[in-house]
Amino acid sequence: MGKLSPSILSADFSRLGEQSLLVSEAGADYLHVDVMDGHFVPNISYGAVVMKSLDKLDVAPYDVHLMIENPDDYLGDFVTERTEFITVHQEACTHLDRTIDHIHSYGVGAGVSLNPATPLVTLEHVLNQVDLVLIMSVNPGFGGQSLIPYTLDKVRKLKEIRDAKGYEFQIEIDGGVKPDNVQSVVESGVDIVVAGSGVFGAPDIAERTREMKGMIG
Ligand code: DX5
Ligand code: ZN
Repeated sequence: MGKLSPSILSADFSRLGEQSLLVSEAGADYLHVDVMDGHFVPNISYGAVVMKSLDKLDVAPYDVHLMIENPDDYLGDFVTERTEFITVHQEACTHLDRTIDHIHSYGVGAGVSLNPATPLVTLEHVLNQVDLVLIMSVNPGFGGQSLIPYTLDKVRKLKEIRDAKGYEFQIEIDGGVKPDNVQSVVESGVDIVVAGSGVFGAPDIAERTREMKGMIG
C-alpha cells in the first residue's frame, strides 16, 4: 500500500493548521516538513517552531526533510511525538554513519536523501541501517518544479538492490509529482510519494488528497 506525504511547503501559511488538518483527515499518511537553510539549498523555508505549532492538532505524523548543512546540530529540535522520520542529505553529511546513529538515538526513523545527480552507490554501506531513502526528483530548494525523468531509473535500481539484499527501508520520491504522472512514479517502485503543489495547489485540497491517495493505491 503506497503512502502519500503532502509537503506543507506549498500550503497557505496563513492557514497552515487548517490545511494540515484537511489533508490529514482526507487520508494523508504523513506531513512532509521541508526545512531549508539558505545554504544547502538556495532558499529559506521554516524551522522546528513552525512544525511544533502543529503538534496540538490531530495531524498526520511528520516526515521531516532537512535540506540544511550541519543537520546534527538541529536533529533534536525536530523530534516530537509526531515525528516518524528525519531525513538528512547525503551531500550535507561528512559523517553519515554517525548521523544515522544520531537520528536513531531519538527513537525516530532515519532517512537519507540523494539529489538527482548523486549516485546510489554513495549509500551502499548504509543501506542496511536506514529506514528510508528519499530520491529527489527535482533539485531541492523550491516547490512547483518539474520531475526529472531519470530519477525514476534510480528508484528502479534502488528497489532492485533492496530486493536482492533483503533490506527493509522505504523508498520515497520528492518533487514534481502530480496526478498526471503519479502512476508512472508508483510503477517505478516507490513506497512513499511526496506532493507539494500537486496537493496544496488544487482548488479542493481534501479532494485532491483522496484522489492522489487512490492513485497511489
Ligand atoms: C523541494 C522539496 C519538496 C517540494 C515538493 O526542495 O523538498 O518537498 O516541496 O514540491 P512539489 O511537489 O511542488 O514539487
Ligand atoms: Zn521535501
